[in-house]
Amino acid sequence: MNSAPIGIYDSGLGGLTVWREVRRALPGESLLYLGDGKNCPYGSRPREEIVRLADEAVAALVAQGCKLVVVACNTATAAAIDFLRAKYAPMPIVGMEPAVKPACLATRSGVVGVLATERSLDGDLFRRTAALYGKGIEVVAVPGRGFVELVENSRESTPEAEECVRRAVGPMLERGADQIVLGCTHYPFLLPVLERVVAGRGVAIVDPSPAVARRVVELLDRFELRADAGRVPAYGFLTFAGETYRLRLEQKAMASAD
Ligand code: DGL
Repeated sequence: MNSAPIGIYDSGLGGLTVWREVRRALPGESLLYLGDGKNCPYGSRPREEIVRLADEAVAALVAQGCKLVVVACNTATAAAIDFLRAKYAPMPIVGMEPAVKPACLATRSGVVGVLATERSLDGDLFRRTAALYGKGIEVVAVPGRGFVELVENSRESTPEAEECVRRAVGPMLERGADQIVLGCTHYPFLLPVLERVVAGRGVAIVDPSPAVARRVVELLDRFELRADAGRVPAYGFLTFAGETYRLRLEQKAMASAD
């Protein structure tokens, strides 16, 4: 069991930003990545549909023998994490937490921006987290309209991408945000554009994926699931979208790995 892979799932390419951090934190672990691809984007789908899609994806990873699954998608976490944990217990499942807490602790201006999909922003998870940590802090939440499509279509470094990012981030900068939380795993692929847009404004961009990787390490230790030392890790890629998309996942993952 310990040599079994860790499953990592997203609606598409975005979860590779989490895959990269998990690989960095756990270089001895085999990883099996499932990027749905066929049903991406999830961001404005009804909640029940996202629960069904997440269930199918996690079932596929479990069928491949995964010992722990990371739902590397904020939208699927917001819609389905309780359902998945109940259905697949006792297998540990790690979800994406919107990194509102560290941003609220770090802000000096008292204004925090959050970028995420529509479905994540109108979910309970975001509302609860914002209410819990955002006391006395102005949280400016804006959906990253078009961001996921830009990444899925390899257009993240185009003028169109810069325009989209400017439009979303503008209201946060106007309010004086000094922290911008990336609440969707696709968004770190837009980091070069984001950094250009906020340059000189004293804004920190908060990506929760390193914290998610630390949580995976913690759970592997707690459940005594670490792979035996000395094993050569294997990296597999699955999708519901066909071989061309599967190859894209593999190439993008390998290109982003250190
Ligand atoms: N990457 C996903 C997230 O973290 C979802 C993007 C989408 O499919 O809309 O929310």
